Amino acid sequence: MTFRIAVLPGDGVGPEVCREAVRILRALGHFDKREFHFDEHPVGGAAIRSHGTPLPQSTLDACLASDAVFLGAVGTPEFDHLPPDRRPEAGLLRLRTALGGFANLRPAISFPAIADCSPLRSSRVAGADVLIVRELLGGLYFAEPRGFGDTKDFAYNTMRYSTREIERVARIAFEQARHRRKKVTSVDKANVLETSQLWRRTVTELAKAYPDVTLDHMYVDACAMHLITSPARFDVILTENLFGDILSDEAAAITGSLGMLASATIGGEVDLYEPVHGSAPDIAGTGRANPAGAVLSAALMLDHLGEPEAAADLDAAVSAVLGSGAPDTTSDWDDALQEALVEEAGV
Ligand code: NAD
Ligand code: IPM
Ligand code: MN
Repeated sequence: MTFRIAVLPGDGVGPEVCREAVRILRALGHFDKREFHFDEHPVGGAAIRSHGTPLPQSTLDACLASDAVFLGAVGTPEFDHLPPDRRPEAGLLRLRTALGGFANLRPAISFPAIADCSPLRSSRVAGADVLIVRELLGGLYFAEPRGFGDTKDFAYNTMRYSTREIERVARIAFEQARHRRKKVTSVDKANVLETSQLWRRTVTELAKAYPDVTLDHMYVDACAMHLITSPARFDVILTENLFGDILSDEAAAITGSLGMLASATIGGEVDLYEPVHGSAPDIAGTGRANPAGAVLSAALMLDHLGEPEAAADLDAAVSAVLGSGAPDTTSDWDDALQEALVEEAGV
C-alpha cells in the first residue's frame, strides 16, 4: 500500500511534533509493506511569511490531491495583531472548509501510567475514555453576518445551524458510539439558544435510527462541570463547534496534558489529522514539546486509512513509553517511541 500524506507543520511546536509523527510513520513503513510519501507545505504564520497568505493555493491543491492531511499547529504572536481573516488561524479554518470534514473526533483518555499527571484525583479519572465529536464547519466560526459595526464600538457573530448540518455530524457520533460503549451525550444550550433547540430536536429524531445507542442531553455548562468531576460517565460527547473547542481543551485535564490529545476530522473529501493543542509559543524551540498528541493523531490516520493493526501498534508504543515514565523532552520521546515500536510491532 502506498499513501500520499500532505504534511503541514505550521508554526511554533507544530514542526517539532510533526517531525516525530513523520519519523515514527516512516519507521512503521520501513519494516512493512506500506509506503508513505510525505510532502511538506506551508500553512499559518509560516505561509504568511513565505507566500503572504496563511493558506497558499499550492498548499490547498497538494492537500486535495493527497490521501490524508497531517497538520502540526498554526498561530504565532507575531501575527496576533492582524484581523481574523488574515491571521494564521484563518488558514486552518479555510483548509477545514475546503477539505470538507465536518466531524472532528477528539478522544481523551486516562492513561493509567500517567494518571498522577492529571490534576484530578486518580480515583476520578480512572477508566475515563471520552470521544468528543465536535461539529467543525458551522456555528459561530463560519456563519454570516459577522464583523465590526460601522462605529467600531460593537461587533457581532452569528450562530446558525441547519438540520442537515446537525444530522450529518450526529450520525457520525452514533456510529462511533456503536463501536464503543453505545452512549451519546448531546451537549447544547437549549435553555437559551434556538440553534441548540434545533440541535436537540434533530439529534433526538435521528436517535430513533440507532435504538442500540443510548442518548442523553446535557447543557454545556453542566457538561463542563461533569467532565471534571466524573469524566468516566461519558462515552461519546456530541456538540457544536465552539462548545467542542472549549470542552476538548478542558478534557486534556483527564489525560494530564494538552500535548497528549489527538484529533481526526472526517466526512469530507480528504481527512485531516492534527493534535488538539496549538503552537505553544511559550515552549516552542525549547525541545520540550510533547509529540504524543501528534503521534496518536498519526495512529488515528492509519486507522481511517484502513490500517488498524499499524494504528494499534502506534497506540501501544505510546502507552509503553508512558509506562516506563513520561519523557521530558521531544528527543527522549523519539528514542523511546522508536524502541517501543520495535517491541510492540515486532519490527
Ligand atoms: P496552546 O495549545 O498552543 O498552548 C496551551 C498550553 O499548553 C501552553 O502552556 C503550552 O505550552 C501547552 N502545550 C501545548 N501543546 C503542548 C505540547 N505538545 N507539549 C507540551 N505542552 C504543550 O494554546 P494557546 O497558547 O492558547 O495558543 C497559542 C497559539 O496556538 C495561538 O495562536 C492559537 O490560536 C493557536 N492554536 C492553534 C491550534 C491549531 O493549530 N489546531 C489549536 C489551538 C491554538
Ligand atoms: C483547535 C483550535 C482552532 C479552533 C483555532 C486555532 C482556529 O483552537 O483546533 O482547537 O478553534 O478550532
Ligand atoms: Mn482549540
